[in-house]
Formats: sequence, C-alpha cells, structure tokens
Amino acid sequence: MKIISTYSARAALVALAAATVCGTIALAAAPGPTLGPLSVNVPSPGGYFQGTGAEILNQHCVTCHSAGFVERQPKLSASTWTVEVTKMKKAFGAPYAEADIPKIVDALVARQKAMK
Ligand code: HEC
Repeated sequence: MKIISTYSARAALVALAAATVCGTIALAAAPGPTLGPLSVNVPSPGGYFQGTGAEILNQHCVTCHSAGFVERQPKLSASTWTVEVTKMKKAFGAPYAEADIPKIVDALVARQKAMK
C-alpha cells in the first residue's frame, strides 16, 4: 500500500514535469503578433510649423505637442507670448535657454501678423 502510493506520487511528478516541458516548447513555437505600419488621423493636422518662424518654432515647440496646439491660440501680444513661452520652460521643462525666449516670441508674433 505504501509502495504504491509513493509510485503514484512519482508518476504524477513525472507527468507534471513532462507537461511543463511540453508547455514551454509549445509557447516558444507559438507565432508572435505581426507588427506592421499603421496610419492614424489625429484631430489636429499640422504637427509642424510651416512658413514664418517655422525653423525656430519647430526646433523648440514641437517636442511635447503639435504646432496646431500653438496655432489655435488667439492673436496674443508679445508680453503674453513671453509669459506663455516662459511657462513652457519653467512649468513644463522645455529645454531652450532663457536667452532664446525673445527670439521665440518674435517668431510667434511675426507668425500671427503674417497670418492675419
Ligand atoms: C517640455 C514640453 C513642452 C515644450 C517644449 C513646449 N510646451 Fe507648450 N505645453 C506643454 C504642456 C504640458 C502644455 C499643457 C497641455 C495641456 O494643458 O494639456 C502646453 C500647452 C501649450 C499651449 C496652450 C496654452 C497653455 O498654456 O496651456 C501653448 C500656446 C503652448 N504650449 C505653446 C508652446 C510654445 C510656443 C512652445 C515653444 C516655445 C512650447 N509650447 C513648447 C509642454 C511643452
């Protein structure tokens, strides 16, 4: 009686080990997901600036959000843009130098003038 129960326990262990090995092999052989190109239409077209001031604004402003985010603002004065561009740096960590802020503001104002 005791011998039989030991034998059964061993058989169960061998079966478990075999199942584990087979399971591993089956998993390794299973095909992975197929990845391919995907095109998504975002609600705000124009991820980049074009035209007046585009170069400096693409350099400093599209790391975190699209150009459209900036373009949808109403016409703002230079001092309001200065507050805004300073906020991007101080509050959100935009990496441009403080010395670059006036040049960025000039580009934003020139851009809004050119558009209206
Ligand atoms: C380090 C990341 C970062 C950079 C770089 C950055 N911004 Fe932003 N910007 C943000 C975040 C975060 C918000 C807030 C988004 C929200 O409210 O959902 C924001 C919002 C804005 C808004 C909407 C109004 C507001 O104050 O929330 C304007 C306008 C704007 N940014 C302009 C700019 C301009 C111009 C530049 C380039 C000089 C710039 N941003 C660069 C992070 C950044």
